[in-house]
Amino acid sequence: MTSPFVSTHADDPSTGRIDELRATEYGYLDERGEVYLDYAGAGLPARSQLRAHADRITGGYFGNPHSDSPASAASTELVERARAAVLAFFHASPDEYAVIFTANATGACRLVGEAYPFVPGRRFVLTFDNHNSVNGIREFARARGAAIDYVPLTAAELRIDEQALAAELARPARRARGRRLGQLARLGQLGRVGSAPAAGAGRRGLFAIPAQSNFSGVQHPLRLVGLAQRLGYDVLLDAAAFVPTNVLDLSQVRPDFVPVSWYKVFGYPTGVGCLLARRDALARLRRPWFSGGTIQVVSVQGDWHLLATDESAYEDGTLNFLSIPDVAVGLSWLGQIGVETVHRRVGDLTGRLLAGLAGLRHSTGAPAARVYGPSDLDGRGATVVFNFLDPTGRVVDERIVGRDAAAARISLRTGCFCNPGAGEGAFSIPRTALAGSIRRDPHSIDEYLTLLGLPSAGAIRVSLGVASNLADVQRFLRFAESYRDAVPDAAGLTPRLRC
Ligand SMILES: Cc1ncc(COP(=O)(O)O)c(C=O)c1O
Repeated sequence: MTSPFVSTHADDPSTGRIDELRATEYGYLDERGEVYLDYAGAGLPARSQLRAHADRITGGYFGNPHSDSPASAASTELVERARAAVLAFFHASPDEYAVIFTANATGACRLVGEAYPFVPGRRFVLTFDNHNSVNGIREFARARGAAIDYVPLTAAELRIDEQALAAELARPARRARGRRLGQLARLGQLGRVGSAPAAGAGRRGLFAIPAQSNFSGVQHPLRLVGLAQRLGYDVLLDAAAFVPTNVLDLSQVRPDFVPVSWYKVFGYPTGVGCLLARRDALARLRRPWFSGGTIQVVSVQGDWHLLATDESAYEDGTLNFLSIPDVAVGLSWLGQIGVETVHRRVGDLTGRLLAGLAGLRHSTGAPAARVYGPSDLDGRGATVVFNFLDPTGRVVDERIVGRDAAAARISLRTGCFCNPGAGEGAFSIPRTALAGSIRRDPHSIDEYLTLLGLPSAGAIRVSLGVASNLADVQRFLRFAESYRDAVPDAAGLTPRLRC
């Protein structure tokens, strides 16, 4: 009998197991006729992951880990097992790395930002290509008088120019700009610019880069981590978009801070992320507060506290102890499939997607799609970002595509994906266009776009993951065909509320 998967599996037979799992563990997609193409937004869970959760919480009982009761010990044991599983997944030594459970990657970024010893004379250097949860760290840097410097992307491929980056990192810190610094200086809250920082003396600052862009799918070279460290920087490697389909081996590349969201990796649980932090880098941070769960001892009358000496110093309040054990379940599940297998599968499908979009032409021969970032498979992950073009070359409003895709039961993402720097690079918006009144005057996103002269607020993002198959890509490409020779009707689109 012919396998039901023959018509859908990708060429590489070693990834055929994924097709079997698609029919069983991820059967909810095809049973409902759905195509899911937003793995960069969230991964999908296997049915057995969800069953494991239900079995555990219906078959046992678990108390707040902050005590020694049997119910508490049961929780603690599972949380610590999950911690060990995370370290093993990243090939990280427990002597070198701490695993701090957070609510998500954003929470991990915030822990670093609020505790990093930014002072005048130190720098926060980051690439244009960063998620807003990393961009936001600049506000902590700014408030404490550190300099903030962005490294631009190369024009078409949206990559980092390594020489330019090395030069930027080697440059001495400029005086921090802006009103806030002036205010702090007047209030006497600033040391002399360039004066020796207290914590982590000798460090030049923090450098932040994503391992994979959530906008373009570009994978920035992991060797940049070592480069920045050699130049005296602590490095935050945002691995949220990279980890679901790529191996990150922390015995080979040793960033100081690595934020991750677990629902992106295997769909479930939501509400649990991690900050993997090198213990030596963690010792350089200064927590701005304490809370339940983070201290060894605290006195009200004495007005002092002693933080815990391990990762619990960064785990505010009660951990999500009913869900953290599901991280170990998810890691074991992914381990059975093999991240390398998923990597090969999505690589093959990404190639087909890129080829399909490149070949999409109007009958005049004009392209019907414009891909941003790399057009081939070199140094990229399974996220493809593009716009459809009408026969006159105008960008088709991303809201039209979102509406049409939803009607075709295709889940994809439209907009700017919380990564404004990569978007500004993709749409070639110069710094000068973003200066002056445009920063103050627009009252809506639509007005902002008009002021910038942009045809659209963003792009279409298709991203692949653990349960993706060839049929998904084929169905999407058939959908894409509907834009050939079409001038879509933009009537009735609702105003954009946020980017
Ligand atoms: C590269 C990257 N970093 C950080 C985040 C933030 O993740 P979360 O919203 O789960 O905190 C995302 C989310 O899309 C991301 O893609």
